[in-house]
Amino acid sequence: MENNNLFLNASCRTLIIGSSGAIGGALVDNLKKTVGPKNVVTLSRTENGLDFMNPETISMSSRQQDGLFNLIVDATGSLRIDNVGPEKSLSMVEYETMLAQFKVNTIGPALLIKNFMKFLPRKGKVVFATLSARVGSIEDNRLGGWISYRASKAGLNQIVKTASIEASRKNPHSVFLAIHPGTVLSKLTEPYLGNKSFVVPDEAAKNILRVIEQIDHSDTGGFFSFDGSKVPY
Ligand SMILES: NC(=O)c1ccc[n+]([C@@H]2O[C@H](COP(=O)([O-])OP(=O)(O)OC[C@H]3O[C@@H](n4cnc5c(N)ncnc54)[C@H](OP(=O)(O)O)[C@@H]3O)[C@@H](O)[C@H]2O)c1
Repeated sequence: MENNNLFLNASCRTLIIGSSGAIGGALVDNLKKTVGPKNVVTLSRTENGLDFMNPETISMSSRQQDGLFNLIVDATGSLRIDNVGPEKSLSMVEYETMLAQFKVNTIGPALLIKNFMKFLPRKGKVVFATLSARVGSIEDNRLGGWISYRASKAGLNQIVKTASIEASRKNPHSVFLAIHPGTVLSKLTEPYLGNKSFVVPDEAAKNILRVIEQIDHSDTGGFFSFDGSKVPY
């Protein structure tokens, strides 16, 4: 991993999608300090009506943007939808629940990439990062369970990898990556934390931005943990 200290600077324009979430909000706060408030554009379901259950809102949100973004972070995602949490075993898998998980964690981000890729400059380092989850790693799956969430994040990782190949043809310095943010205190995780250790969103955001600062094109298509280590697909 090469160091590129100048990426998050005062001329780096950024877009945080899912800015209403715990990690998304902390990314916005941290970026305002590094790239400056005018370089941070936000987009979310709460603030702008971007809803992955309604795909027209994705293309509509893209039409509302102008100018280019050197960094786009997709910090959306869901573990519990319509009050249905992750399955403990295959016997709990339900068609509608799994479909909803894929809509939010896989198809929504895929359509984000489709609609927002055009805002990445064709020259120099540009980054599109999406928040995935270590439980989406097939190789690292040791506990089972959480079937729909795991599968939807594994699908997301495949989309990031595929997009990285297409983006490389447009900009040979582009970086597309999936990031595992660690276990972070948020409304998504709160019911499932138990005695697990966690970090607060501000620390998670700092970790994610450190990874984004350090990665370069040689890392594109990769799945990274918050500490910069690679997670196997
Ligand atoms: N927290 C962790 O420990 C942890 C661990 C591994 C991976 N992650 C991943 O990190 C990401 C952010 O998680 P978080 O902890 O910050 O969760 P969060 O606080 O619940 O934030 C989730 C974000 O996703 C948005 N969202 C949810 N459903 C949506 C939909 N249908 N359409 C559009 N946006 C939608 C939310 O928008 P509204 O608030 O406006 O509804 C919010 O901005 C997720 O992808 C999650 O899987 C988190």
